[in-house]
Amino acid sequence: MTKSPLQIARASYQPKLPAAFKGSVILKEGVATQSVADQADIKELFPNTYGMPLVTFEAGEKKENPILGVGVILSGGQAPGGHNVICGLYDGLKFLNPNNKLYGFLGGPIGLVDHQYIELTSDIVNEYRNTGGFDIIGSGRTKLEEDSQYDKGEEICKKLGINAIVIIGGDDSNTNACVLAEYYSKKNNGIQVIGCPKTIDGDLKNEMIESSFGFDTACKVYSELIGNIQRDANSAKKYWHFIRLMGRSASHITLECALQSHPNICIVSEEVEAKNQTLNDVVDEIVKVIVHRASHGLNFGTILIPEGLIEFIPAMKTLISELNELLAHNDDFVALNTDDEKRQYVKGLLSKDSSEVYRSLPKGIARQLTLDRDPHGNVQVSLIETEKLLIEMVAKRLALLKAEGTFKGKFSAINHFFGYEGRCAIPSNFDADYTYSLGYTASVLISEGKTGYMSSIRNLTAPAAEWIAGGVPITMMMNMERRHGKMKPVIQKALVELDGEPFKFFAKYRENWADEKASYIYPGPIQYYGPTEVCDQPTKTLQLEQGK
Ligand code: FBP
Repeated sequence: MTKSPLQIARASYQPKLPAAFKGSVILKEGVATQSVADQADIKELFPNTYGMPLVTFEAGEKKENPILGVGVILSGGQAPGGHNVICGLYDGLKFLNPNNKLYGFLGGPIGLVDHQYIELTSDIVNEYRNTGGFDIIGSGRTKLEEDSQYDKGEEICKKLGINAIVIIGGDDSNTNACVLAEYYSKKNNGIQVIGCPKTIDGDLKNEMIESSFGFDTACKVYSELIGNIQRDANSAKKYWHFIRLMGRSASHITLECALQSHPNICIVSEEVEAKNQTLNDVVDEIVKVIVHRASHGLNFGTILIPEGLIEFIPAMKTLISELNELLAHNDDFVALNTDDEKRQYVKGLLSKDSSEVYRSLPKGIARQLTLDRDPHGNVQVSLIETEKLLIEMVAKRLALLKAEGTFKGKFSAINHFFGYEGRCAIPSNFDADYTYSLGYTASVLISEGKTGYMSSIRNLTAPAAEWIAGGVPITMMMNMERRHGKMKPVIQKALVELDGEPFKFFAKYRENWADEKASYIYPGPIQYYGPTEVCDQPTKTLQLEQGK
């Protein structure tokens, strides 16, 4: 592989670890835990892994560690730092006992079921240190949910001498990790399961998991691009840029990018839902700012739109949940051939209100809503071009205002979608250190015999040496939710909290960013070498959440 100079330089970067990992460690058990909600149901479903204590690691005496075999899986969408989780896991295992072995299951969870794997040796691992991507072993979205899949997994673990599986994934994948841990515990087969919190979306977080990895780097990449666009807009002064940002459900990415770049408008889905707004209300707000800036001769600007917006507009949310119920395992629908037949079929079965909303949507968007769900039952929102829909609606409204004489400016719009551009970026120093520490922690959780835990690193706004490493029982993060038409135990998604500090900061300043005096920020590219205030700052979200 031909490498760029930066890749070569990053290969020798030694990620920082919490001070506890300077040598051997001891485990400290904290208090017993309970799930965030629906305690009785979760306890009944996870009798072997419910209520376990929080654990942390502290420096301790060296001890003899038996030889371990570990299998690792990358699950779901890519997030910067995945390779470093594997490097940290590998180095941690080798520190515990140089004879320990690490296997990588290929292509996501399916690799475990289909027995597709490689042994991860130092030659392989060294090639991927501090790099972006998941290509070391590949990733996939296959859902582990059948006993037969778990049994196939057990078969290959027994064959390879694997004592533990590490699943690096988002909320859905870690939910599956917990189910797998419970299944293996019940069978008492000696195979442990440990999760690692991954997703650029930033929605796998709670009291014990301060951030999922990848959020930091992805937001910095998108913010750089937004800043560049703002500088272009401010130079050319002729386009409104409608920028949709990834984040399937929560608006954390969009909000963080707004905090980093100060766009003229930033829509936060959670606020739209809380205010019970319609799509027309959202359009009204955008139009108001465009008209105001035009009255000062400014016919340009930037608008950030979260990918998940559609699902948060209450009427759309009802429509989507009706569609989810209607289309779950619906062979009649699948058998229909044309889009028109499908449209008629759906219209006939929706409630009156949802049917009206469905009819009011442009055909392309309505069709997207009936396309295949991902294996976890989610609408594939990254395929819904909300930014184009908004441009169309805003243009129509402005044309009416122009005819009335209330809008005298020009409106020319350009659409963007940033998602895949950031998911495999070279991890920022923060993500490189954080992910390496998560992987290293996973190795110690395994050597301590833990199962059903998620690797956790806290105190993330402090220097890495002061980070607190430990484990959180996954059942602690769970509640019951309706999925595929049935109540299921799942990890509760963290949405943007409107009374949280990041949103409050945004709400305080957004009017200043919108008006004619707007002052954009141009964050520039991620820096890996240089002063710490340039290279090592965590996200604004994390800093505001931790009162920094
Ligand atoms: P994960 O939750 O698996 O980390 O993936 C998140 C995400 O990047 C979303 O932001 C986006 O909507 C989705 O993946 C896109 O999925 P795909 O990679 O299948 O196109």
